[in-house]
Amino acid sequence: MTNNVNTNKLSSARFAEATNAFVETFTASVDFDQRLAQQDIQGSLAHAQMLTSIGILTNTEYNNIVQGLTQISAEISDGDFKWSIQQEDVHMNIEARLTVLIGNAGKKLHTGRSRNDQVATDIRLYLRAEIHVIQAQLTRLQTALLNLAEINAATIMPGFTHLQVAQPITFGHHLMAWFEMLSRDTERLTDCLKRINVMPLGAAALAGTSYPIDRYMTAKLLGFSKPANNSLDAVSDRDFAIEFVSAASLIMLHLSRFSEELVLWTSAQFDFIEMPDEFCTGSSIMPQKKNPDVPELVRGKSGRVTGNLMSLLMLMKSQPLAYNKDNQEDKEPLFDSVDTVINCLRAFADMMPKIKSKPENMYQATKQGFATATDLADYLVRKGLAFRDAHEVVGQAVRLGLDTQRDLAELSLTELQSFANVIEKDVFASLSLEGSVAARKHIGGTAPETVLKAIEQARLQLNN
Ligand code: ARG
Repeated sequence: MTNNVNTNKLSSARFAEATNAFVETFTASVDFDQRLAQQDIQGSLAHAQMLTSIGILTNTEYNNIVQGLTQISAEISDGDFKWSIQQEDVHMNIEARLTVLIGNAGKKLHTGRSRNDQVATDIRLYLRAEIHVIQAQLTRLQTALLNLAEINAATIMPGFTHLQVAQPITFGHHLMAWFEMLSRDTERLTDCLKRINVMPLGAAALAGTSYPIDRYMTAKLLGFSKPANNSLDAVSDRDFAIEFVSAASLIMLHLSRFSEELVLWTSAQFDFIEMPDEFCTGSSIMPQKKNPDVPELVRGKSGRVTGNLMSLLMLMKSQPLAYNKDNQEDKEPLFDSVDTVINCLRAFADMMPKIKSKPENMYQATKQGFATATDLADYLVRKGLAFRDAHEVVGQAVRLGLDTQRDLAELSLTELQSFANVIEKDVFASLSLEGSVAARKHIGGTAPETVLKAIEQARLQLNN
């Protein structure tokens, strides 16, 4: 960095120097953007190869650059690289080191580019790689869900609306609902990749460059689908980062909803599942406690990613074209979102195969909430009653059940017939929990046979 010490006579030299040093630290980004080092090197290698092909660098210079950058890459990986605040950011640090290592050729590398198109390229390369890591974790979690769903395809549990017992469902069906949410998450990331994978390099500071650069060549070398169409847009666009963090927010929102259910299900009041000990902690004061820390923490962390999304939206909203220093603030929310999503998905994917259902408790809970009331109404409709009349009859039956503390299936035939004389012995098939779920065998339904088919389909989808 230049030594632009404030020489204003009115302020003491001491004050001026202190301010200068502070601003240097304040504006530097190397502490966090060093994370882009390998992508920066990757981009520089491609840029250098392109410059050589158009005759701006000699083969010797190119070879020196490759050798220097390769050494720097190793130094960084080994933790031997000396990052300096004076060099402001990852780009300047690497360039300065390259020049120390290979001399003049190092200074030529920056021909026909700017840090503005460089950083935009680095972030895209970084995000592209991280999305594949995230998708791999999503697949791990989905695989675990399929396995647990298969074991529990016929496990009956209460389905809830308003967190009140509504209708019997199978646990396998519930888990497959989670699977669907995660499938959309993967799809969203794939969609977002299309817009990430466009190359800013060549836009230079904002207006492009007067060198006869070959942007198609650089794009091909870096695996981008094409060079960005407009140089101003290329250096200033962060839509792709916002799209990604938005997709990441939805992933976290899903994990947070799963977490909430897991927390409920492990409570003594539900007691639907057994959470593996290694994902829980005890209490320092209450010896009986086994707290579901991992889902709770994941639920809590979902807020960070939504917060990061808001940060990025606000960061961009008033920026005039083209690059502004504001953009340096894009990295921390982005990195934090990537880390949070990967860690939370990983925790879930590790935990899910170790979760055990408690079918007996789920079954008992389903029997308690008049969960087959809708089945009784449907039965009456099949016997010729209008649905509204059937609804009324079922209301009376539920009332009797409540008063005598019995489920609908526990009422006698005579009692049921006192509400509607069309009721016959076959009503009990509809009132059983097994009968209720088995009847819902259309596509998307909760019947065990349908759930098994859905799992089979899902396995094919995952392996594609
Ligand atoms: N560290 C900067 C960033 O992250 C790199 C680009 C700086 N360009 C500039 N003209 N100051 O955005």
